[in-house]
Amino acid sequence: MSTPPAVTQAFNAHAEAYDRNLEPILAIKGTLHLLIRWQFSGLPDAARVLVAGAGTGAEARFLAPIFPRWRFTLVDPSEAMLAVGRRNAVAEGFADRCEFHVGLVSSLAADPFDAATSVLVSHFLTDAADRQAYFAEIARRLKPGGLLFNADLCADLLDPSFGSVMDLWLAQAGMPDERKVSFRAVFGRGVAAHGPAEVEAMIARAGFSAPAQCFQAALIRGWVTARM
Ligand SMILES: C[S@@+](CC[C@H](N)C(=O)[O-])C[C@H]1O[C@@H](n2cnc3c(N)ncnc32)[C@H](O)[C@@H]1O
Repeated sequence: MSTPPAVTQAFNAHAEAYDRNLEPILAIKGTLHLLIRWQFSGLPDAARVLVAGAGTGAEARFLAPIFPRWRFTLVDPSEAMLAVGRRNAVAEGFADRCEFHVGLVSSLAADPFDAATSVLVSHFLTDAADRQAYFAEIARRLKPGGLLFNADLCADLLDPSFGSVMDLWLAQAGMPDERKVSFRAVFGRGVAAHGPAEVEAMIARAGFSAPAQCFQAALIRGWVTARM
């Protein structure tokens, strides 16, 4: 089983509102983008970057103006999310440096990339084998030594700090009460509850060097790693 169809349907249904809905965590996403920039700063002038789970194109939109010769392949099973991503790329003048692929990473030609991003994607793969296979599909498309920045919702449910971190996450501005209740219910079901050590082990087993956690803000963690 891979990403459940219901997840893709939900992203299709809310694609137009996605960027607006994520405004309360924009500062967190901004920090993730800054870390990606730092990790990728040594890439060649004409680097090729795989943006897995690109959605509306946030990572490419951040990197494209800074690195004007980089090319981006945006991959996402949600056609509507990627349509917004394409529209954003056209409006911001970098669509000619992008390819848009509706589908899973596994359906993309294994053309070697210099680096890949996966931001807020793999937590939708609740089955550990599927999640590891997703990282392996990314690894297969990277050059040896190619870089991966991965960020996900991630928490150790058994850790004594979990309740406080979850409360902090749910205190974010603008989250309606009914959404708080549903988020608590979905965490560990619709969203994977693999702890950080498990996620790191999956990434390593998928063919990457031991991931270094470089970021945490409440329930979001980020890691840097490279293809072995
Ligand atoms: C929360 S959004 C993140 C989008 C973008 N990376 C960002 O940070 O704004 C997650 C995206 O991952 C996509 N997605 C879910 N499962 C996926 C999979 N197995 N492979 C690639 N993309 C997937 C969804 O369709 C959705 O567009």
